[in-house]
Amino acid sequence: MRPSNPAPEPAGVREFEAAARERLDPVHYDYFAGGAGDEITLRANESAFGRLALLPRVLRGVEKPELGITLPGGSASMPVLVAPTAFHCLADPEGERATARAAATTETIMIVSLASTVAVEDVAAAAPGARLWFQLFVQPDMAFTETLVRRAEAAGCGALVVTVDAPVFGTRGRDERNGFHDLPGGLRCENMRDGDRIRPIVFSPAISWDHIARLTEITSLPIVLKGVLHPSDARTALDHGVSALIVSNHGGRQLDTVPATVDVLPEIAAAVGGAAPVLLDGGVRRGTDVLKALALGASAVAVGRPVVWGLGADGERGAVRVLELLRAEVEEALALCGVASVHDLEPGMVRRLRRPW
Ligand SMILES: Cc1cc2nc3c(=O)[nH]c(=O)nc-3n(C[C@H](O)[C@H](O)[C@H](O)COP(=O)(O)O)c2cc1C
Repeated sequence: MRPSNPAPEPAGVREFEAAARERLDPVHYDYFAGGAGDEITLRANESAFGRLALLPRVLRGVEKPELGITLPGGSASMPVLVAPTAFHCLADPEGERATARAAATTETIMIVSLASTVAVEDVAAAAPGARLWFQLFVQPDMAFTETLVRRAEAAGCGALVVTVDAPVFGTRGRDERNGFHDLPGGLRCENMRDGDRIRPIVFSPAISWDHIARLTEITSLPIVLKGVLHPSDARTALDHGVSALIVSNHGGRQLDTVPATVDVLPEIAAAVGGAAPVLLDGGVRRGTDVLKALALGASAVAVGRPVVWGLGADGERGAVRVLELLRAEVEEALALCGVASVHDLEPGMVRRLRRPW
């Protein structure tokens, strides 16, 4: 028998997406890939990085760039975190367990989604040593929200990531066309278990700053606000005791035609003025994207779909490969920019192009 040639390893996040697309049910691929409305923001997140150029320095004697970061909720070996994304069991049977093990292997932080298909306790048990944060959509039943906070604390999560860009659920055309409304095959949002039943996740337009104030009273975990795009909201967040912000538009899945995250990052960073770490997610696909975000004021970035593509292409191993690829790309780009540490990037290293490449 002729030995079968092993498939070539994907050499970048976009190649992992192609590999995942081959393996996933097309309806589930669309769920992961899609965005709201005309998907203008979805595309803008990626293309905005293409309008930014890096301006390297030379002869700076940089031997081994320093990648490690420390945030209010813990440290990571690189400035690339795993953003909270729902339903990992649609990408791999091990689901969020596999993702958490990949995060543990790569020594980065995984933000476990409220809409995880594995309960946060089981995610933690499956990946000893994993650095987990817990993402919350505040549920209008504050007593139930408080039980979620207690579970996250007991599972060892280092921070509470409160997503605030979903007062209602953004309509995604691909899911509408595909009729994708329910999880298949006995999969559930296991964090929503309440005794014998699974509660539906409620997206509530009634959620306000009062809820954030209440959360800071009921937990000593750092609160990270995810989904901030307006500089005034960034300042209000600081007034409410928030420990960090994530500039995010939910990967283009909520309000369409909001700006690309990297385009609003400088304004938010200026509004925060170093008073708290500012993170960014949306459209990060290369190490050079990470450098651009850090130069423009982010302390770290998070990646959503890239990790799902790794998981869909090759399970836990694929998720590790995606994270290690990004690490290697960041390291190489830092060396090529003559920058010794992720903390040394500054806005002068980025030029805005009039036209994209
Ligand atoms: C399939 C999918 C599911 C998501 N689920 C959640 C979620 O449950 N909670 C949340 O706060 N954000 C969720 N997000 C948004 C991500 O946390 C993140 O903001 C976004 O994916 C970043 O963009 P990127 O995919 O281009 O990296 C989801 C995104 C995707 C693609």
